[in-house]
Amino acid sequence: MAKPANKPVIKMTDLKKRFGVGDAEHYALDGVDLTVKKGEFIAIMGPSGCGKTTLLNIIGLLDRPTDGEYLLDGDNVEDLRSGQAAKIRAHRIGFIFQNFNLIERLNVLENVALPLTYSGVPHMKRIQRASDILKGFHLQEREYYMPWQLSGGQTQRVAIARALVNKPSIILADEPTGNLDSKSSHIIMEELSEIHKKGNTILMVTHNPNLTTYATRVITMLDGRIDTDTAEPKLHENKNEKRPLNKSAKQKSSKKGAKTTKSSRRKAKK
Ligand SMILES: Nc1ncnc2c1ncn2[C@@H]1O[C@H](COP(=O)(O)OP(=O)(O)OP(=O)(O)O)[C@@H](O)[C@H]1O
Ligand SMILES: [Mg+2]
Repeated sequence: MAKPANKPVIKMTDLKKRFGVGDAEHYALDGVDLTVKKGEFIAIMGPSGCGKTTLLNIIGLLDRPTDGEYLLDGDNVEDLRSGQAAKIRAHRIGFIFQNFNLIERLNVLENVALPLTYSGVPHMKRIQRASDILKGFHLQEREYYMPWQLSGGQTQRVAIARALVNKPSIILADEPTGNLDSKSSHIIMEELSEIHKKGNTILMVTHNPNLTTYATRVITMLDGRIDTDTAEPKLHENKNEKRPLNKSAKQKSSKKGAKTTKSSRRKAKK
């Protein structure tokens, strides 16, 4: 049955994730309400340990919530068996992990082609598509390199190429520019912007406030909850503007015109 076009891509209600038991019990997510529409580019910020990666893992079906409701494209995904979850991931979700996660025994081309294995694309086509996307990242000369032969920036670009090879509609990026210099960060961010312009939905965790100018919405988390949720003025549409990536957060925090709601603070603290 066709779904209404305006249905949110992601809808989470009072989502919780508990780790540990007894004295070690800890809520990494402690009541997250989040609705994401198709085509949003969301930057997620917040201090270390506030639950950003946990949230991305649950959105990407790599982990399950302890409590609450999660609808992906309008479907309840809580009770999916692992095979079904893997299928959804293979077709719809692209991950860019914090620690790259390239497979050490596979070369660059094989790493990038890997997600296509799960979506049933024939071998030759997989290699061709991986090769094409690597060209887009100016990495065609590195196709037969092993991961340990790449620089940090190259490794991250390979990881992004791999996340995009199956043309996912949702891209989840956990600090995609975390270890990169300013120039490499720009290349990665411009690439993500292009993907966003094609109508894809992006959720990106970042510690760098200057990168939020690429986003349409900025969410900050605190102690497993959404603390602020801000619609970004569309600075990123000014193509001539060169965004500073390495400067302090000062300019950003003084920016006017952003609409902020403090959704989670409305909830009574336990
Ligand atoms: N598998 C796990 N077992 C137990 N605790 C966990 C597990 N994964 C995460 N946690 C805890 O949950 C909390 C949130 O972790 P998470 O990785 O989501 O933080 P984060 O916001 O991504 O931090 P960072 O910015 O450092 O990456 C942390 O206190 C962490 O110790
Ligand atoms: Mg993290």
